[in-house]
Amino acid sequence: METQSLIARPHAPTRAPDLYARASAHYADKLAATKALLHQAAEHGQAPGQVVQASSLGAEDVVITHLINALTLDISVFVLETGALHHETLALLERTQARATARTPVHVYRPAAESVVHFIRDHGQNAMYRDIDLRKACCNIRKMEPLARALTGKSGWITGLRREQSNARADVPAVDASEVQTKGLTKFNPLADWTWGDVWHYIAAQNVDYNPLHDRFFPSIGCAPCTRAISVGEDFRSGRWWWESEAAKECGLHVRN
Ligand code: ADX
Ligand code: SF4
Repeated sequence: METQSLIARPHAPTRAPDLYARASAHYADKLAATKALLHQAAEHGQAPGQVVQASSLGAEDVVITHLINALTLDISVFVLETGALHHETLALLERTQARATARTPVHVYRPAAESVVHFIRDHGQNAMYRDIDLRKACCNIRKMEPLARALTGKSGWITGLRREQSNARADVPAVDASEVQTKGLTKFNPLADWTWGDVWHYIAAQNVDYNPLHDRFFPSIGCAPCTRAISVGEDFRSGRWWWESEAAKECGLHVRN
């Protein structure tokens, strides 16, 4: 895990590309393999449009959306707008929608309003900090149920998972068939072997619009109540659900069978 590159320069304005962009030795090969995998994903399934990109609007996902557009692939993007995202993320979502093309539209999925209202009425705004079961219930309402809608009728999805992100993700394959039997879904992880430096090298080289939270040491972009900046020496996902143990830190989107 690269912690050196996450060190802040005190009192200096920081720009994430300046801090992190550093291509690894085999960057060109990785980029070529990523492009090939995105082509494969676009052709996957019985008909065009059956594979979609899941975007949290974090660094990995803006790279993938940029590549999909650059390769003019027929792959739409979906964002789970949980109702608890940072305003910086919502602003990037608006800019992304404004740039969307007919080939690559951006669809937004929101939680069922009555489920959110009932949950807050019964458990309060801050239930997620009190109890892991309530935290998971909130993730179910705000993420998992909208995800199920986003993936209905699809044969695959593309995510920004990388092996470097955590121990739990150390074995993420480029093509994950573990949901084919149960859900009929192939999962494509085109950046599985990219480093954080590779991701930012691409963003810097292609001048990709990115989430300004990354300039403030948020490596991973999630809901505002459950995501914070990290500091020197902390690992990549330590800013997510920081009050929970390492093993618990998944919301369910990527729990493997
Ligand atoms: S999470 O499971 O902890 O939330 P993480 O934030 O690391 O996941 O993101 C991993 C991948 O999950 C992203 O690259 C993206 O493909 C997908 N993802 C995460 N959050 C969202 C979201 N709000 N909308 C759509 N996809 C998302
Ligand atoms: Fe709720 Fe936090 Fe999960 Fe977002 S990450 S759905 S706010 S518990």
